[in-house]
Amino acid sequence: MTQATEGMVGGGYYDAHSSFQARTAASGGALLAKAVEALTLPANGQVTVADYGCSEGRNSMAIVGEALTLLAARGASDMAVLHNDLPTNDWGTLAANLAGPDSYLRTFPTARPLFAPHGFFERVTLPASVTLGTSGSAAHWLSAQPPGIDMPRSLYRSDAPPDQLPKIVAQAAGDWTAFLSARADELQPGGILLVQMLGSDDSVDPVRVSAAALMGLMNTCILDLVDSGEIPAEVYARYCFPVVPRTIAEATIAVTGLLADRLELLHCGLTAVPSPYQAAYEKSGDAAAFARDYVAFTRAFSESSLRDGVFRFARGGADAAADRMYGLMQTALAARPDAYPFDDLTLAVMVRRKPVPSSWR
Ligand SMILES: C[S@@+](CC[C@H](N)C(=O)[O-])C[C@H]1O[C@@H](n2cnc3c(N)ncnc32)[C@H](O)[C@@H]1O
Repeated sequence: MTQATEGMVGGGYYDAHSSFQARTAASGGALLAKAVEALTLPANGQVTVADYGCSEGRNSMAIVGEALTLLAARGASDMAVLHNDLPTNDWGTLAANLAGPDSYLRTFPTARPLFAPHGFFERVTLPASVTLGTSGSAAHWLSAQPPGIDMPRSLYRSDAPPDQLPKIVAQAAGDWTAFLSARADELQPGGILLVQMLGSDDSVDPVRVSAAALMGLMNTCILDLVDSGEIPAEVYARYCFPVVPRTIAEATIAVTGLLADRLELLHCGLTAVPSPYQAAYEKSGDAAAFARDYVAFTRAFSESSLRDGVFRFARGGADAAADRMYGLMQTALAARPDAYPFDDLTLAVMVRRKPVPSSWR
């Protein structure tokens, strides 16, 4: 396993099953307005918006469109949009979305979309070139498995054994610093980055970790395959689901510490974003539909990572193992629809690139 994920499930599947991520993006509307208000607009009116971890683009279209509207209202005249994700992302669907009815190009036909297929833990574009950076539901992904991880019976930050948790937290800390450091290179002086990602609340004991119940169910279902001999136990022991919801302190420390000479923290806070799948179930009472939609959402973001790290080692092949595991999840959710809530806490972080001191030029 080389990297944490190859991206979301493609072919339009992620777009069709990411209404939770769409809600997360929408919940950041007021912060996006503040970000555009607080950034330094280049004197020539030429701006670049970068969206980091854009996936297939349905949700990206909405947030970028909103950003362009706000920037145009501030006087931006020429606009470029850099869409960033991994090289293995479904770029074809993104291109189709750009040509589709919900594209920001309908409103801003002179804006120029650019693709940046490169991991966001490194610089993905030229230094000092980005006016506004956004990133939705992406920066919680790790770059790779935490080195030396050994978790035979658990999957995630919330259920990791005490001797393994520090490895997970250390990997997340290093990755976050790398992510921010790359953005500090790319942002123009006075440029702003707004990140929304999964969060954890450590003001309560035990720490409240976003999606803990869902990941607990996923762990139970994978262990079913491990205990039946379908998946080798030593393979599962080396795998941790490579998404880490950070606490406010964990998100803040890199900005106020190592990167304090380059970045200024404007906002860091947690907000609960309700699960649309739970809301639909409460309205309809249809447990089967709830289980189907909740599993499709889970599959869209998790399957690529689980295939590479776990399912490809299954005795009966990756396809059968994936279908079996997600099938088990669906059965459990239909039987007990209230037992595994998504329980999200979205962590929003806004930073501004400090001006480069004249003595450095
Ligand atoms: C859940 S999707 C979010 C997509 C979109 N921003 C949204 O709000 O719906 C997470 C995205 O982050 C991308 N991602 C994960 N690790 C990445 C990395 N190292 N570099 C660039 N993109 C990455 C994934 O490929 C995926 O497309």
